[in-house]
Amino acid sequence: MILKKLLSAVCLLLCIQFVKSQGNTHSTSAQQEGIVGKVDSLLAIMTLAEKVGQMNQYNGFWDVTGPAPAEGDAAKKYDHLRNGLVGSMLNVRGTEAVRKVQKIAVEETRLGIPLIIGFDVIHGYKTISPIPLAEAASWDLEAIRKSAGVAAAEAAASGINWTFAPMVDISRDARWGRIMEGAGEDPYLGSKIAIARVKGFQGDNLAAVNTVAACSKHFAGYGFSESGKDYNTVDIGLARLYNTVFPPFEATIDAGVKTFMNAFNVLNGVPATGNAFLQRTVLKGDWGFKGFVVSDWGSINEMITHGYARDGKDAAMLAANAGSDMDMESYHYVNQLEALVKEGKVDESLIDDAVSRILTVKYELGLMDDPYSYCNPEREKQVVGSKENNDLVLDMARKSIVLLKNEGNLLPLSKSGLNIAVIGALSADKDSPLGSWRLAADANTAISVLEGLQGYGGNKLHYEKGPDLVVGEPSFILETKINTTDRSGFDEAVAGAKDKDVVVMVLGEHGFQSGEGRSRASLDLPGMQQELLEAVYAVNKNVVLVLMNGRPLTINWADEHVPAIVEAWQLGTQSGKAIAEVLYGDYNPSGKLPMTFPRSVGQIPIYYNHENTGRPTIPAPDLVFWSHYMDESNDPLYEFGYGLSYSRFQYSNLRLSDNTLVDDGQITATVTLSNTGAYEGTEIVQLYLRDLVASRSRPVKELKGFEKVTLKPGESRDVAFSIDRSLLQFYSQNNTWEAEPGDFRVFVGGSSKTVLDTGFTYKK
Ligand code: BGC
Repeated sequence: MILKKLLSAVCLLLCIQFVKSQGNTHSTSAQQEGIVGKVDSLLAIMTLAEKVGQMNQYNGFWDVTGPAPAEGDAAKKYDHLRNGLVGSMLNVRGTEAVRKVQKIAVEETRLGIPLIIGFDVIHGYKTISPIPLAEAASWDLEAIRKSAGVAAAEAAASGINWTFAPMVDISRDARWGRIMEGAGEDPYLGSKIAIARVKGFQGDNLAAVNTVAACSKHFAGYGFSESGKDYNTVDIGLARLYNTVFPPFEATIDAGVKTFMNAFNVLNGVPATGNAFLQRTVLKGDWGFKGFVVSDWGSINEMITHGYARDGKDAAMLAANAGSDMDMESYHYVNQLEALVKEGKVDESLIDDAVSRILTVKYELGLMDDPYSYCNPEREKQVVGSKENNDLVLDMARKSIVLLKNEGNLLPLSKSGLNIAVIGALSADKDSPLGSWRLAADANTAISVLEGLQGYGGNKLHYEKGPDLVVGEPSFILETKINTTDRSGFDEAVAGAKDKDVVVMVLGEHGFQSGEGRSRASLDLPGMQQELLEAVYAVNKNVVLVLMNGRPLTINWADEHVPAIVEAWQLGTQSGKAIAEVLYGDYNPSGKLPMTFPRSVGQIPIYYNHENTGRPTIPAPDLVFWSHYMDESNDPLYEFGYGLSYSRFQYSNLRLSDNTLVDDGQITATVTLSNTGAYEGTEIVQLYLRDLVASRSRPVKELKGFEKVTLKPGESRDVAFSIDRSLLQFYSQNNTWEAEPGDFRVFVGGSSKTVLDTGFTYKK
């Protein structure tokens, strides 16, 4: 007995030494293999309380560079940190601050296990990229990967090792404020972009000092919140879940994503956070996910409000049993899990599994080797805000712009001899273009449109702000108040537009009108902007409307009247430069919409890849019994995949290598693309398929391939897409992912309103 105790004490000491004394080497694949053994050894010496501590994540709770908190909630958290009861922190950033908390975890706790430091690096850290929805409009996977790489490099240089991104929620509801964080409405494009983002964040070596662990969120269904209202109920069938919601999540596992975040919403009656079907059956079971799942902020606690858990203890039990490995800011794991295990309500093997997953990621990040490897102030200075990073986000910004209209080739503008009015509260705004979710960015650091235009010297610029868009200083956490009463500047703006050769109007949403908690019931231009647009147009028809927005807007009037419309979203730090380059033709726009623009809110959800009704078209003039609105068209304002260029592209000669696709064979669809315009330009060629008859009614069209092609004026090129069984698969009525034999249509074009089609038969 005594010998046994002695042996285990020696072993404990050795293991502790082992954990604390790892060298400075970075992980290689051989070491990866060794990680399992290291995790097991560490787990073997951890007390239950220490294990639960690894599952506890706290928000940065005091100014860590100041004195330690002496009393209150912060003091309690601080105490937990010193006693090894905290495994992760979020919202602590900067090498100095991170080193300070890391030091406590490493040097003051019994086992010295470092913290994993999480942060919402959504579209850049300090050098801000376009909002993710804008980046999706580029359809440029390489640029998106690089943009995520910039974000990762800056965050990692600032002490952070884990980003809560990418958000891969598919959504068809422009009212939902969080669509700015995602890739839009399509699961195929969404999956490709999700992979690019994970690869950009994580790189090839997670332990490298310029990469961070990524997090696929919010699992699952959050983008289908009823009525587009944030945090709302989600009730969708299995086919929708598997065919539309799941694909980008599953794709990120193939890309090697290290973590998942669950969601605030209830899915079919069960909160995602306490949902064992989602987290255990699908994610960790069917998909074999080996990383860990973090709850959303306080979402374990919110299961009480949902009426799913009785109290904190019940909530902790439900979440842990359902597969939520880490508790973000609910405090229920740290307070309840130990007792729940002792009472037999949560099996300790589940705790061990969760902790192993968390420790594995810490090893993979290199934190166990060198907890301070992300805390080098010299590197922080060098990397954050570098010229190279700014060049990369500028490139991303250019590629994200979508030309929506260009009547009479008003654009591009001549670089000299013009008298230009620049109008609108957003035109000189240096903060709003940074968009929502840019927590580490310094305020007012975006290049405004006005500054971008001033960078070109040849024209005369006359700037008029017009009425304010927002009241007061908008912020990430407070409600954004829109000015609807103060007309100051209105008349001056209209007067300033008169007699100018061109008016550039920069209108849209403030950057803090989208993002979390920012759903809108109207998608019109907010405040007085519509009135201003009409008044300016009345005195000068040569209006170029530059839109800044975090979601599709209902801009029917503008589409009908204004000759040129440029969709410029919120493009981040380099916004104004990218926009000016497009307006002056130094960059020929090539973006395509990743989300349908509705004509009215009443059409929502409106998306291109819908199933057919039994009555999709009018059977006879004036007959009422077909699927339509009495007061609105069925068509969107701009369809998914839409976007113009200063050049023109023609599609011809769509042909298939064979009319039959056999089981695991492949056929090729080839189309000829010609640039018939006067500029060199880039077109995003899109391939769509339709399964004509299947065991479930299938969408009228589904994106299954795309390619970015750059052609000189007069140049033509064949563009080929390979089609195989994988593109035909869906969640069939057998409740399995399979391709069913039968006839398929193939469509190709420059948007989801494709121009050419043909067909083939698939035989098993
Ligand atoms: C959001 C998450 C985010 C988390 C941490 C939550 O409110 O839903 O997406 O990662 O906060 O900031």
